[in-house]
Amino acid sequence: MLADNCKLIFVEIKPMPSQRSLFLHHVAQTSPWPMVIEVERAEGMYLYDKDDKRYLDFDSGFSVSSLGHRHPVVIKALEDQMAKYLHTTVYGEHIQASQIRFAMKLEECLGPDFGTVYYTNSGSEAVEVALKAGRKITGRYRALSCKNAYHGSTLGAESLRSDIAYTSALMPGVPGIDHIGFNSWEDLEKIDSSIGILIMEVVQAEAGVILPDPAWLRAVRDRCTRHGCLLAFDEIQTGFGRTGKLFAHQQYQVFPDLLIMAKGMGGGMPVGAVAGSQQLMHCFSSRPALGHITTFGGHPMSLAASVAVLEFMAESGIMDTVGDKVELFKKELDHSAIKEVRSAGLLMAITLEKAENLGPVVSGLLESGVMVDYFLFNADSFRIAPPLIVTPDQIREGCALIKSVLDKVIG
Ligand SMILES: Cc1ncc(COP(=O)(O)O)c(C=O)c1O
Repeated sequence: MLADNCKLIFVEIKPMPSQRSLFLHHVAQTSPWPMVIEVERAEGMYLYDKDDKRYLDFDSGFSVSSLGHRHPVVIKALEDQMAKYLHTTVYGEHIQASQIRFAMKLEECLGPDFGTVYYTNSGSEAVEVALKAGRKITGRYRALSCKNAYHGSTLGAESLRSDIAYTSALMPGVPGIDHIGFNSWEDLEKIDSSIGILIMEVVQAEAGVILPDPAWLRAVRDRCTRHGCLLAFDEIQTGFGRTGKLFAHQQYQVFPDLLIMAKGMGGGMPVGAVAGSQQLMHCFSSRPALGHITTFGGHPMSLAASVAVLEFMAESGIMDTVGDKVELFKKELDHSAIKEVRSAGLLMAITLEKAENLGPVVSGLLESGVMVDYFLFNADSFRIAPPLIVTPDQIREGCALIKSVLDKVIG
């Protein structure tokens, strides 16, 4: 019984919206089929969601976390930098110690032709820098890239894509861009003295790990040199030890004029860069000056992490472990549903006998706690690109889960 002076107040209790529905509403989506994993924390080889479900990371966020998550050398470098300062002007104005240290270490690893660096926020921005450098250095606006390549999502980088399925809604793009077939001898003719720059991957990542014919790669280099066309290698996915060398081109002994990097460079921090000789890389400082400027490119926090990653890669011996790990993956991935395993070190494409099994396998793996991913331009393969710190036991554990998902999918 209520006292006379009490009123009943009805309050409509609405259920709290889930993080999932808030995410789908408030965060702009890039596809109708997002993964929607609520990551709570990540450490080493593993990600953990809000229910403490553990995922073995066989993707590294598309080759970003090459030293795993929160690697101690990266965390230490970030803490040290955070105690000093977060940001001051980055693009060649204020003297940033870690920008110098990174470039000097890169020069020590690759030689003086890669000792001067322009730092960016991302891989796409680094590709833009290379595209602009091509025009500025050669005075030619025409550029080439390879078919089935992905170089980023800014308009210049998108213009380098050959597949119109993704780019048609954006056209017209940057003018003067044409494409050559990767490993196509015929298309080498397109490299002539009207072309300012050829931007290409050494190993085609999004095409599904397509390796170059070494003789073709050398012929590309020769033809570029002969026609005064700059050659830029986009090593954004293949860099920083992923293939067992610091950069994939070292294995082929074919050297670009400009080297584009990002992803694994920052150990999880956003950064990118273009490296080349001092003569080439000073192209933005005159005719006119301020040829490319960027508020956050080469941010002190990102560069502190990048120095830690580069020094660790160069000195720890971790790249020497890649070969054995790849062999173990290949041995463990023996299954009747797998047609082929292609690999450029720990960048691997697992091709299935039946393309229609790809979706169920990738989502089955996610359910089983193994993170792998698709390729942009390969409909029957999934990607395995784990952090280089992956142990033999983790390779066996992950491959056993892959095989049991394959068993379930093929029935
Ligand atoms: C080969 C390659 N180039 C460029 C990019 C673009 O890099 P970002 O996403 O950092 O802009 C990517 C990203 O996936 C890439 O794989």
